[in-house]
Amino acid sequence: MGRRSLVRDRDVAFRRLIELGIALSAERNHNCLLEKILLGAKELTNADGGTLYLVSEDRRELRFAIMRNDTMGIALGGTTGAPIPFAPVPLREFDGAPSYKSVVTTAAIAGNTINLVDAYNTPDFDFSAPRSFDARTGYRSQSFLAVPLKNHDAEVVGVLELINARSPDGRTVAFSAEITPLVEALAGQAAVALDNQMLIDAQKNLFRSFLKVFASAMDAKSRYTGDHCQRVPELTNMLARAADNATEGPLADFHLSEDEWYELEVAGGLHDCGKVTTREFVVDKATKLETVYNRVHEVRTRFEVVKRDAEIEYLRSVIGGGDEPALRAARDERLAQLDDDFAFVAGCNIGSESMAPNKIARLERIAEITWQRTLDDRLGLSWEENARQPQMREMLPAAEHLLTDKPSHIIEHDAPPLAHDNPWGFVVKPLPHKANLGEIHNLSIRRGTLTAEERYHINDHIVQTIIMLEALPYPKNLRRVPEWAGGHHEKMDGTGYPRGLKRDEMSIPARIMMIADIFDALSAHDRPYKARKMLTECLDIMARMSREHHIDTDLFEVFLTSRVYREYADKFLSADQIDEVEIERYLANANPASGPQHDGAATTAEREAGRIAWSVSRVSSAAATSELPDRNQSEQRQDPETTNSPYASQKR
Ligand SMILES: [Fe+2]
Ligand SMILES: [Fe+2]
Repeated sequence: MGRRSLVRDRDVAFRRLIELGIALSAERNHNCLLEKILLGAKELTNADGGTLYLVSEDRRELRFAIMRNDTMGIALGGTTGAPIPFAPVPLREFDGAPSYKSVVTTAAIAGNTINLVDAYNTPDFDFSAPRSFDARTGYRSQSFLAVPLKNHDAEVVGVLELINARSPDGRTVAFSAEITPLVEALAGQAAVALDNQMLIDAQKNLFRSFLKVFASAMDAKSRYTGDHCQRVPELTNMLARAADNATEGPLADFHLSEDEWYELEVAGGLHDCGKVTTREFVVDKATKLETVYNRVHEVRTRFEVVKRDAEIEYLRSVIGGGDEPALRAARDERLAQLDDDFAFVAGCNIGSESMAPNKIARLERIAEITWQRTLDDRLGLSWEENARQPQMREMLPAAEHLLTDKPSHIIEHDAPPLAHDNPWGFVVKPLPHKANLGEIHNLSIRRGTLTAEERYHINDHIVQTIIMLEALPYPKNLRRVPEWAGGHHEKMDGTGYPRGLKRDEMSIPARIMMIADIFDALSAHDRPYKARKMLTECLDIMARMSREHHIDTDLFEVFLTSRVYREYADKFLSADQIDEVEIERYLANANPASGPQHDGAATTAEREAGRIAWSVSRVSSAAATSELPDRNQSEQRQDPETTNSPYASQKR
């Protein structure tokens, strides 16, 4: 070969090396990267075969990552998806000493390139494995080039092993000394590319694990949440896959890139992260008088005091010479009335029945009953509670009402509430106070156990979610996480919260997450005191929401036609919830053009939609029947029509 030809060949090789370096640095898929490294090295050296090994995380062995052999027609690992059926090669002997038996382990341990002209004539290494392979297949492993892949810390992360360099006329020859530095250069670039990718993968895995831990911590905060935060990302992924697979219809053009799938996973994992700010005793509030404990015990003690007062009054009157039988009869009547009044108050506390005006009037009458307090009610208070007491000290003994709404029951906001022109575009209207612990106020709650202030606090989790997520410094590939995660309480017609967004103002992933969020909340079987819903009941409600422009109709259709509802049900619902679904019925009912449905199922769905999906109604354990308002504390949606909702949408 002439000198000019050699120079030309070297120029071509350099150019190819540069091209490969650029390609390696741009490759983000791990398997594609492995393949580019091996095929690039094979091409540079015109090798018949090659294997790329990666050093295991514990640095104890070399693992086969990808293998090719042209003559034998072998293509394993990499993008082929075909597993490599060979055990990893140990880097250490049984006694822990470095293993220099094979070419690849020696290259990995010593960090040097090894170039062998003929393996069979090399006594330094154990070639029993290649020999036995050759014996079985008729192949002849001859020339070897083993090049360690060193990262920027000079740490070996893998080994490139090339077999049987070929001359232009197809003969097996030795790997030339000229080509070795080029392969080493390629190996260096490959190591850096691999290292970068492994670092990125390690960060992704760490973040994934963090998300899982965080979601399970959110779920652990309250038993009313069940495993909602962990299931919503899964259902989001299922529905997004179905939408991505749609080949016709309005979602045919919807596709997510690899980065966007990860972005969606992150958004799903964080979709309720604001719940970290939600006070558990509000989420878990099972009775109306509950704060951090059920104050019905305090109220009952007051009734006991009043009953003792009645007894004392009777005894005093008898001692004073009164008509004992008449006094006893009056006392007994009084005690029976107090027993009945307490039973009524205790019943109101449960919150299982709606509070009609006559019930509230009775509560107010009972509240007028007084008892005598002889002890200072400011003793033993915290500074904060003391600050809420009236300035004027009262004289003792003082007449106390059985039930009260005192100024000290009002808790003011810790910080100024959201301004109208807040930077996040929230349209929610803050309430005047943070909390109202008034006893009559709480016992008069018309439905469920939560006051407006408590509903506001629970619904505020989505405001906090958005504020938290928008405060994070995202890399470019995660910048849409706040939008995708923060829209699951909006509605397609703009009456949702916290931004009152309409369908066209929301991305498809955000609309997907909304459906996932609602369906999980409806179908969950792991919430205490919540009757399990059948699959068809959940779909009835969803169909109504679609018809009424609450959820996206196109995506709900995909949810039905792709049978994602069933895939999810098989995985997460209990078997007794899964009943026969005729999707045509739901498809028809889901269409906004279909108008209100008046069949029995639709009527049930309408009722349910109001009280579950958008309602924050809460009932106690005793009230968990299908006829009662359901508790859905995890989502705490509410019905603007039936509550004085601070979250009732206000149009911007
Ligand atoms: Fe939420
Ligand atoms: Fe949620």
